[in-house]
Amino acid sequence: MIGLNIGIDLGSSSTVIVDEKKGIILDEPTVIAVDSETGYPIAFGNNAYLIMGRTEENIEVVHPVVNGVISNYKMAQTLLRYYISKVCGNMIFKPNVIITVPSAATNLDRRTMVDILTSSGAGKVCLFEESLASAIGLGFERHALSGRLLVNIGGGSVDVSVVTMGKIAVANTIKIGGINIDEAIQKHLKRTRDIMIGPLTAERIKICLGSAVPREGELAMLVSGKSGTDNMPISFEVTSTEIFDCIQDVVGQIIVGIKSVIEKTPPELTGDISDNSITLTGGTSLLYGMDKLVQRETGITTKVSKDPLYSTASGAIKVIKNLNKLAGGYDFKTIHQID
Ligand SMILES: Nc1ncnc2c1ncn2[C@@H]1O[C@H](COP(=O)(O)OP(=O)(O)OP(=O)(O)O)[C@@H](O)[C@H]1O
Ligand SMILES: [Mg+2]
Repeated sequence: MIGLNIGIDLGSSSTVIVDEKKGIILDEPTVIAVDSETGYPIAFGNNAYLIMGRTEENIEVVHPVVNGVISNYKMAQTLLRYYISKVCGNMIFKPNVIITVPSAATNLDRRTMVDILTSSGAGKVCLFEESLASAIGLGFERHALSGRLLVNIGGGSVDVSVVTMGKIAVANTIKIGGINIDEAIQKHLKRTRDIMIGPLTAERIKICLGSAVPREGELAMLVSGKSGTDNMPISFEVTSTEIFDCIQDVVGQIIVGIKSVIEKTPPELTGDISDNSITLTGGTSLLYGMDKLVQRETGITTKVSKDPLYSTASGAIKVIKNLNKLAGGYDFKTIHQID
């Protein structure tokens, strides 16, 4: 194909763009700040993320991807156009784009993705299953007969797939992820102490104190927020036990989703999964104790992958490098192959 080939992992939390020579060429939050009256974009990615929760009434920070799929067409288009021009600069030819999509994306979601990319400066667009990209990124043997369970726990979705012989045998996407854990922390503090905190503070609390299983020793941190009683700034202490309790419901839903895929898996493959262990990837697999909890609940050895935030992106790099091999293959779809 003429022109640069790039891969895009457009996640609910972050967008990662790769090319075959340099690897990761962009890694920024999937957020855009706009003037709420005019709709005019004010800041993109990293700059928009920094003003999340700090904005005045006339600035709105928008997440164009929610639960792994595009929820705001116009904003997704504006953000992708900005990112594509940022990485491709003044190139003469439009870049060919391979974009990863969650297994549960509907045909409408897939068409929307192709439409947005072509109107955002992409040349040819190919859709690639996100879980297969992760499997390739993690080095799962492509033709291996034995099935492996891969769980990608991201910011807004959990993709659970059984991969065998380079295909997805059983899959399910649950519309929940790390962002819902942050929201649970915000709601808990509002409900129990009448204190409001921003999304960035909630994410920091989750990363520092949050856990999927009780921690061995109690941790605490000092946090700043705003009192609902007098609207004045307030500093207060939160503990790991309190955070563990308030995120239980979201973490529990992730476990239910993983178990439902195992239940739907044919017996031969279930045996394979037990022999091969479960691999967790995606940013939320880094939540303290997530592997221990999945292992305890399923009875199957569970491990967090190397570089969980980048397994999909590293798979996309391998896919781009092997385009000729994959183009005629089993899982390489273009818009024309969608019903
Ligand atoms: N150390 C950590 N502990 C807990 N959560 C973490 C940690 N590091 C990152 N995260 C969370 O991981 C999430 C982002 O993960 P990831 O980049 O895989 O999501 P995404 O691909 O953008 O989303 P999705 O695939 O669901 O659309 C965020 O919610 C972030 O807070
Ligand atoms: Mg993801």
